[in-house]
Amino acid sequence: MSISTYSNEIKYIQQDDEFDYLKSLIESLDKGKSIGILLYGAPGTGKTLLSITLAKSLNASYYFIDGSPDLDRRDLEGNWELRKGYTKFNYGPLTRAIKDANEKGLSFIIINEINAIRESEQISLNSLLSENHINLISKGFERHELSPNAKLVIIGTMNKGVVGINKLQEAFGDRFLICPEITYPNKKKEIEIATKITNCKKEIAELVVDAAQQIRKQATEDFSISKLFSTRLVVNFCLLISKMPAKFLAHNIQNCIINKLGETVEERKSIAMILDGKMFKEKLGKVLGYSERKMKHQEETIPVEEVGKITEKMRKAINEYIENCGPNQIFKRNGEIMWKFFQWLWNNNRFILRNYFRLTEKNNYHMQYKKAMGKSHDYRGKITLRYIKWVYRNKNYDLVIFMKRFYPVF
Ligand SMILES: Nc1ncnc2c1ncn2[C@@H]1O[C@H](COP(=O)(O)OP(=O)(O)O)[C@@H](O)[C@H]1O
Ligand SMILES: [Mg+2]
Repeated sequence: MSISTYSNEIKYIQQDDEFDYLKSLIESLDKGKSIGILLYGAPGTGKTLLSITLAKSLNASYYFIDGSPDLDRRDLEGNWELRKGYTKFNYGPLTRAIKDANEKGLSFIIINEINAIRESEQISLNSLLSENHINLISKGFERHELSPNAKLVIIGTMNKGVVGINKLQEAFGDRFLICPEITYPNKKKEIEIATKITNCKKEIAELVVDAAQQIRKQATEDFSISKLFSTRLVVNFCLLISKMPAKFLAHNIQNCIINKLGETVEERKSIAMILDGKMFKEKLGKVLGYSERKMKHQEETIPVEEVGKITEKMRKAINEYIENCGPNQIFKRNGEIMWKFFQWLWNNNRFILRNYFRLTEKNNYHMQYKKAMGKSHDYRGKITLRYIKWVYRNKNYDLVIFMKRFYPVF
């Protein structure tokens, strides 16, 4: 069985049939109306990924909004920008999503942490959800309406039981058609998710999921651990230990699991005890030991110390970009990266950009490029601009994950 093609494209893996259910709901309902879906559940259960995968599987464009108390109504609807001597109206994600839906028949608005949006800023979402149109207050009440041939899917995600964030207003919540809960997957499913997403060995995923479930159980039973071991954490940890040399295993357990989950010294002790009881480190070490030869080979291409330096330099180059071009010039509204960002780095910090893109070899993007384009991704030992463009065009969302999580620079 080959999972390499699957694992390179990051997709939601359904636990039961929740994905099929949502897809069917969207396909079955009449056109001309917006469809509100409120996904809730523990953090890191894949709610955001599920929403994006849904949009992608229906070939629809999507706009991504991160809910926060600072979010202004104008961020959603659009705002005026002062240019040299004239003003220009920039349409926001809601208006643009309506336009996309009207042109292509379907589009998505995905709002992360929707409960963090202030009540006063929910008005435009309210009218979009129940009356299928919005009136832009800052533009003379210009009306934008969903056409009878279009569907607009509005997915809000919210974490259950997160303190310090607003409760969702009843009138607002009521406007969503359905409110499915996304829970932690069962053992078998969680192992499948970890292996498919990270491409790690099944034995590794089994050991990690087993520990995660034990720690989760303890956390809910006697409250001795306050944070839950999320599927996101399972995935991150599997990724780390299968990429890094086995000699760093103890560091990874400490930094990625114990320190992240344990808020107090007592909590950390209690997590460490559970792991020790399971011989977690020893068992993992044994599995990793078998692949030492393979890891040595990976190290030869880019040594671990080098990776640290490369990401550090990339971070500096990004800061330089922000100083020159401003903080809002990296991500588009839908969460993807702007081309001009890479263009600037190519023009100003080419060496650093090339080195950073060399890291994509670890995710096998260069092999996929070769397969698709019939060319090597480097020329005389230097990464080509053509390859960077290809990754940008074909793997933008994966690239975001790559840059935020695999080799974090943001
Ligand atoms: N069912 C799943 N299928 C695939 N990946 C998952 C799943 N659940 C969690 N993950 C992993 O956890 C990460 C976090 O998921 P995310 O969608 O951000 O969670 P949430 O929005 O619920 O906090 C994903 O990027 C993925 O690596
Ligand atoms: Mg999320």
